[in-house]
Amino acid sequence: MPHPIPPPACNTCPDLTHGTTHPRANSDASTTRRTLLQRTLWSAAWVTAPAMVHPALAQARLQPTPRQTEGPYYPVALPADSDGDLLRNGTLQYAQGQPVWVEGRVTDTAGVPLAGGVVEIWQCDADGRYHHPGDGNKAAPSFQGFGRVTLGRDGRYRFRTIRPAPYTGRTPHIHFKVRLPQRELLTTQMYVAGDPGNARDFLWNNLSEAGRAALTVPFTQSSDGPRAEFALVVQA
Ligand SMILES: [Fe+2]
Repeated sequence: MPHPIPPPACNTCPDLTHGTTHPRANSDASTTRRTLLQRTLWSAAWVTAPAMVHPALAQARLQPTPRQTEGPYYPVALPADSDGDLLRNGTLQYAQGQPVWVEGRVTDTAGVPLAGGVVEIWQCDADGRYHHPGDGNKAAPSFQGFGRVTLGRDGRYRFRTIRPAPYTGRTPHIHFKVRLPQRELLTTQMYVAGDPGNARDFLWNNLSEAGRAALTVPFTQSSDGPRAEFALVVQA
């Protein structure tokens, strides 16, 4: 009587019932393929996720406006008249210096206007004096010296003031502060393009080329007088 032919032996165990390949080996190979596939998909997702999930991240971000020191002359108490017209303080009209417009747009780094934000400026009068006890409170009473405007939906601000004047040790500048109702976002200074005092100013000299470009703007003639456009970018 012929002997029955046994099934082929498994390569890795004595079990004769499942052929030459151990089920676990199949399972391991399958698991390895799944893992590789998952890793590949995760890698692809990692590369493409920013564009898919956050379209704004795929766009170029704006550089935040460089910060500058607040300096010693931020008002101790805000003046009763603190609107956007620094040439009129209460009922008094300031007639010194060169009247100008200083205006611009405030956005976040994605270019979205900072609607509802507040822009403040403060500067010395045409004789280089601030409304501040640290400067002897010697600024002209008719010069408002400080102004504040709330940004509309377009993020634009506009101040009526004088072209900034120099004082001892500083090139002409206007101090800026940007706030949200509960948070201060930026303190910086605006400089005047082409002013010979810039190259001797320690703060301006400490700026990088890009920083100088961001903070230094020209006054140009417009239909209603000289104006400077000073854009501000904040990390909101
Ligand atoms: Fe100053």
